[in-house]
Amino acid sequence: MAEHIYPIFEKMLQRKDREALLGQRGVMVWFTGLSGSGKSTLAIALERELYKRGLLCRILDGDNIRSGINNNLGFSEADRTENIRRIAEVAKLFVDCGIVTIAAFISPTEAIREMAADIIGREDFYEVYVSTPIEECERRDVKGLYAKARRGEIKDFTGVSAPFEAPAHPFISIDTSCQPLENSVQELLDAILPKIRLTMND
Ligand code: ADX
Repeated sequence: MAEHIYPIFEKMLQRKDREALLGQRGVMVWFTGLSGSGKSTLAIALERELYKRGLLCRILDGDNIRSGINNNLGFSEADRTENIRRIAEVAKLFVDCGIVTIAAFISPTEAIREMAADIIGREDFYEVYVSTPIEECERRDVKGLYAKARRGEIKDFTGVSAPFEAPAHPFISIDTSCQPLENSVQELLDAILPKIRLTMND
């Protein structure tokens, strides 16, 4: 019988083939920080800069994930964990395609971020802590959610009535209250570009 079994998996193209095709490395850029800290703004600006340099990215953020694949999840600790678990599994597929995958989620605890790093693979995981202080996030209150949380109209709101643990050893920290967006993006680019570009040995 053995001669009729064709080992198709051996013929399946590998991640390195896709990376060679794209001329880039698949990496995970994982933003974490409070609501209103600037995660999505930075993610979008980073994607544009990478795109200009001929690099393919895909942003995963609350709008495209919580309204679709995760539309049955809320903000309890268990739901946040499941939110990030699914995101990490999806992100892993993108990284395996050789795509620069950019996630912008609060991902509020070390345990949640560790889980994401374990699923995706630590060697591909670059944690970007958007460390904008809560006072500034609350002052901006772009979505009006801090005011609602303070009035008790939203429960388990991160930074108000639910915890946020700052990462202990982020790849890079960025405080968007201290400098203009362009400077933050430049810092990010300087840190991330060497991880994306293929070297002669690849
Ligand atoms: S996470 O904690 O599970 O990582 P996620 O990044 O997906 O959160 O979603 C956060 C966004 O959902 C916030 O920017 C805010 O717009 C909205 N939101 C609604 N309710 C809450 C809440 N209780 N805590 C935090 N964010 C909330």
